[in-house]
Amino acid sequence: MAANWKMYKNAQETSAFFEQFTPLMSDGIHCEVVIFPASISIPGAVQAAEESAIRIGGQNIFWAREGAYTGEISGEMLRAAGATWVLVGHSERREYFHETDSGVLKKTQAAIEAHLTPIVCMGERLEDHKNGRAEEVLIRQFAGGIAGLTEEQFADIAIAYEPVWAIGTGQTATPEIAAKAHRCIRSETEKRFGREAAEQVRILYGGSVKPDNIVGLMHEQEIDGALVGGASLDPQTFIKIVNAA
Ligand code: 13P
Repeated sequence: MAANWKMYKNAQETSAFFEQFTPLMSDGIHCEVVIFPASISIPGAVQAAEESAIRIGGQNIFWAREGAYTGEISGEMLRAAGATWVLVGHSERREYFHETDSGVLKKTQAAIEAHLTPIVCMGERLEDHKNGRAEEVLIRQFAGGIAGLTEEQFADIAIAYEPVWAIGTGQTATPEIAAKAHRCIRSETEKRFGREAAEQVRILYGGSVKPDNIVGLMHEQEIDGALVGGASLDPQTFIKIVNAA
């Protein structure tokens, strides 16, 4: 269960979240919980989560190890700050920062090289959803991006299916729609990386996940977890989602 905080919560608000959230994480929780705060809050979050099972990740990474890339953060820097996961290719990065499938591939490779687990995001926009072109978009994003990994590299990633029309809109994909998209991604995985890789890769669903729809989503065998935006900002709400896993 992953929490993508996007550009919300400063350092103090991050500490306040952990103060409330960490005691709610009981020993009975069997899923992995990863929180993606703003990069400036990663060291504080790592410290706050130290005694718990919560892991911390970055929301973005640059593909070079170092260099004259003003404003960017490398995988090594994230790792040194205590992050162990990273989001790659979120639709907001694709939309506002013009990230492409080939850039997503380079960032995914950089993450693996820095020993971070990337969650590679993909998903179709509203018009593609309406025109029945969701699978076409997923196949294209897969082919132009993570299909370029080696089998060994692919074993180190997780994938998130995030239909753009469901993000921040309150309009969640039904469990059936999400499962169908996940099956499409798994089938592309099988074609490129083989059956074992397809069975093992974890595919998370993201897009308006809330406490009242998580149970239905997690009932689908195809859905291995959730990438939660808005509903992860409040500790009481996010713990309900974590407990549903
Ligand atoms: P919401 O849960 O706010 O729709 O955001 C989903 C998302 O983009 C997670 O990465």
